Amino acid sequence: MSEIRYGIVGTGYFGIALGRAIHALPNARIVSVFDPDHAAAFAQEVGARPEKSIDDLCARDDIDAVIVASPNWAHAQPVVAAAKNGKHVFCEKPIALTFADCAKMLNAAEAAGRIFMAGHVMHFMNGVRKAKALIADGTLGDILYCRAVRTGWEEIQPDVSWKKKRELSGGHLYHHIHELDVVQSIMGPAKEVFMAGGNVAHTGPQFGDEDDLLLITLDFGNDRFATLEYGSAFRWPEHSVLIQGTKGAIFIDLQNAGLELKTPDRQERFLLHRTQQEDDNRTEIYAGNKGSGAIVYGNPTTTAPLWLQGIIEMEVEYFHGLMSGEPITEEFAALTNGTAATAAIATADALSLSLKDGRKVSVSEITGNLHREL
Ligand SMILES: NC(=O)c1ccc[n+]([C@@H]2O[C@H](COP(=O)([O-])OP(=O)(O)OC[C@H]3O[C@@H](n4cnc5c(N)ncnc54)[C@H](O)[C@@H]3O)[C@@H](O)[C@H]2O)c1
Repeated sequence: MSEIRYGIVGTGYFGIALGRAIHALPNARIVSVFDPDHAAAFAQEVGARPEKSIDDLCARDDIDAVIVASPNWAHAQPVVAAAKNGKHVFCEKPIALTFADCAKMLNAAEAAGRIFMAGHVMHFMNGVRKAKALIADGTLGDILYCRAVRTGWEEIQPDVSWKKKRELSGGHLYHHIHELDVVQSIMGPAKEVFMAGGNVAHTGPQFGDEDDLLLITLDFGNDRFATLEYGSAFRWPEHSVLIQGTKGAIFIDLQNAGLELKTPDRQERFLLHRTQQEDDNRTEIYAGNKGSGAIVYGNPTTTAPLWLQGIIEMEVEYFHGLMSGEPITEEFAALTNGTAATAAIATADALSLSLKDGRKVSVSEITGNLHREL
């Protein structure tokens, strides 16, 4: 197997975590990195060259794939540049902050005939894969309803991170697109959506300007629905995805890590992650973080916890496999061509419009304008 050569755009908290996982793989080499502030140390750690610009990195002919882990607002430019230079791309979530940008990224990757994989790492959780398998084998019957919750309380932070600013991160809905995407991977794309909420408890210079309370209803047609709650104005933190079918239900518990299946004649618990140790690691971290729940953020000086490293390893191993000629599996197909990630942003854009206008919005109001098939 020949060596696959990588470039990384953005070497903060997550770019480093992805980079270290890639560096540990056989036949993988990180050739080059770009980060306006934090490139040098990581470049030295893995023996890569720091580049002066995204264009310089993407133009190198000794790179096969580009990993994009810059802040959310800064994904579209490197993804398009990488694709135009014939590189495969792995892009962190949310892949962009508007459907229009997603469409540009998708079109560029498609035109170049390159993989465009979204970093929707939740799909690599053992529990999420198990839930999908139990749905596929009919254990739950028809899925009628999902409820996803990702909430906690934000205290005053020493600095206001870009992750708390609507224009840079998209706020909770976009920054934590994982749950919305997982729900759509189970129910299909939402047709009509409604969102209520606002910034109800975190105004002033000590905080960002994102909405801290978001209450979402998704209507999939055919009497199928989902509700989601996001935000940092919740003193009772929750993090879970509940899946209700006609024959049974699954509770994906992301706080007290595990997966619970309930049918009339079966009650079973499964691991959320690869090992009990990873599940315990997750549970202990949530128990110890004093109410901030699932809304804790990394920064360039923090290291990903054990449970997160586990799913990152599986995710980059999958991407590296594709780079090495392995076929795309059906399970992850929509993740590897950008369509699932784009569908999630289309729904998020429709929800943002709903909040702004105070009305139910059809997702086709967002996607229809651009005639982009998903
Ligand atoms: N999949 C997950 O679970 C997960 C978890 C954390 C972060 N992320 C995603 O990873 C991405 C990076 O987040 P992070 O936690 O590493 O943030 P971070 O703030 O720790 O790091 C961001 C890095 O990007 C650099 N940067 C700033 N502007 C840039 C630009 N224009 N081009 C390239 N680099 C630039 C910064 O200097 C910094 O080093 C985000 O999209 C975030 O949503 C995903």
